[in-house]
Amino acid sequence: MGSSKTGFSMIVLAGVVFFSMMVANVAGNFYQEFDLTWGDNRPKIFNGGQLLSLSLDRVSGSGFKSKKEYLFGRIDMQLKLVAGNSAGTVTAYYLSSQGPTHDEIDFEFLGNLTGDPYTVHTNVFTQGKGNREQQFHLWFDPTRNFHTYSIIWKPQHIIFLVDNIPLRVFKNAESLGVPFPKSQPMRIYSSLWNADDWATRGGLVKTDWSRAPFTAYYRNFKATPASPSSNSLSHSVFQTNELDAYSRRRLRWVQKYFMIYNYCNDLKRFPSGFPVECKR
Ligand SMILES: *[C@@H]1O[C@H](CO)[C@@H](O)[C@H](O)[C@H]1NC(C)=O
Repeated sequence: MGSSKTGFSMIVLAGVVFFSMMVANVAGNFYQEFDLTWGDNRPKIFNGGQLLSLSLDRVSGSGFKSKKEYLFGRIDMQLKLVAGNSAGTVTAYYLSSQGPTHDEIDFEFLGNLTGDPYTVHTNVFTQGKGNREQQFHLWFDPTRNFHTYSIIWKPQHIIFLVDNIPLRVFKNAESLGVPFPKSQPMRIYSSLWNADDWATRGGLVKTDWSRAPFTAYYRNFKATPASPSSNSLSHSVFQTNELDAYSRRRLRWVQKYFMIYNYCNDLKRFPSGFPVECKR
């Protein structure tokens, strides 16, 4: 009996070790995957490559970018945003190709006064042209804990997710003449910078520099390349190409209660008709 117990413990232990190795494998190492691109010593990598921070002070912000380029796939990153009074700060986290006709898939986190909600700003650029903003508040305080922000980029659509809940789906509308990002590989970029001329309540609330430096944290980066058998991308978010019924309900919930701006509803901006992709 004693020996069978020991045998069982050994199997459990082996399982735990194996599982830990899998987890360690999954999270990308910041030293291997990213270059710290600007801000002198303000961007930092800690914990043997498991944690990265950006900071912003009166003199400069900071940023990093991926060493690799990606063409389709799923990119996950956990972020903990600037806490306390973050008014006027912007943490941009995005995919982008280069040049005047570049494509871009953007998350931007606009800071706020303590207790007031962050704004998550999203945009999609195709062939150098953006103007497709949607903005959201979040259903949690993004400065208290790490949360997962993901971009799924497939030939059929781009999906923005927070903690695996879809915020936004940008469909491929090439059949209607709307360009879609599909041929220019993109790098992952992030930067923390000051934009108190527009970011918080349209620039009314300025940055309180006595709170500087402002710091945002990153961990658990994961890039999953698109593959023909891309069911492993899905985590139940997908069946094949479409969102499943549960994810569609979550998307409607986010859009109903947390969306604060949608270019597709902004009549003032498009008096002579909405962009083609806005029509269903
Ligand atoms: C800041 O808080 C105000 C008041 O709740 C809100 O209207 C605004 O959307 C928030 N975010 C930004 C970036 O201004």
